[in-house]
Amino acid sequence: MNNILSIKKLKKKYHTLNGEILAIKNISLDVNEGEIIGIVGSSGCGKSTLLNILADIDKDYSGQIIKKQIVSAYMLQSDALLPWLNVLDNACIGLKLMHKDNEDNINYVKNLLESFGLKNFIYEYPNNLSGGMKQRVALIRTLAIKPDIIFLDEPLSALDYVTRLTITDEIYAIIKKMKVTTILITHDIAECISFCDKVVVLSKRPAIIKNSYEIKLKNKTIPSLNRKDELFNYYYDLVWSDLDK
Ligand SMILES: Nc1ncnc2c1ncn2[C@@H]1O[C@H](COP(=O)(O)OP(=O)(O)OP(=O)(O)O)[C@@H](O)[C@H]1O
Ligand SMILES: [Mg+2]
Repeated sequence: MNNILSIKKLKKKYHTLNGEILAIKNISLDVNEGEIIGIVGSSGCGKSTLLNILADIDKDYSGQIIKKQIVSAYMLQSDALLPWLNVLDNACIGLKLMHKDNEDNINYVKNLLESFGLKNFIYEYPNNLSGGMKQRVALIRTLAIKPDIIFLDEPLSALDYVTRLTITDEIYAIIKKMKVTTILITHDIAECISFCDKVVVLSKRPAIIKNSYEIKLKNKTIPSLNRKDELFNYYYDLVWSDLDK
């Protein structure tokens, strides 16, 4: 497999009025094309910090981030839809910013919205959508620019448990269909194991990689069924015991 992203000896300090906070001590990680990598760690360990660096939002770090010539997109922990734009316009924001909002691309986004249960909501405003629908629109917005790699920071954390399980399967289907390399940040071990090819466990702050696991389930299918796999609990226990509580 081809390497699409390489993180080498990444270190990140925040400078605050009260002095320096070392958020990431040392992270090195290689990501292959098409891989879905999950990153878990306890609250405040540095996950969003890592994602902001990967997504080029934060350029103040030491170490190296080597990306192949790729289009990348991200969905932040606090990403929200703009209430004054309808669903289609929200989903097309990235395309507009890149001046790629031509008819073909807009139709492509319409198709994505339709295939993910939003056919009757394309011209609705965010206030009229459920939480799960909003998350789907935010994800489609991330995918609209046809990225090679996406960085997702707790994309479903605002949702209730049942919606979260259903949406996880839908998102998995989109990602697999589009063959997009994915870095998923979460603190939910079960979500991470059921969704990802590889799970990377971060230590508490300052973050280092404590362990990483290739997830080799007996019968890998969709996330909700992966949770019932014979080997699911085996990986769950491993990751749980690694996590700093
Ligand atoms: N802009 C900032 N300035 C100073 N310190 C910050 C800043 N952003 C984050 N930190 C600190 O860096 C550490 C890591 O924060 P980060 O947001 O990356 O954690 P996280 O793993 O994403 O947590 P959560 O699971 O709660 O989202 C925390 O101690 C936090 O207080
Ligand atoms: Mg975070």
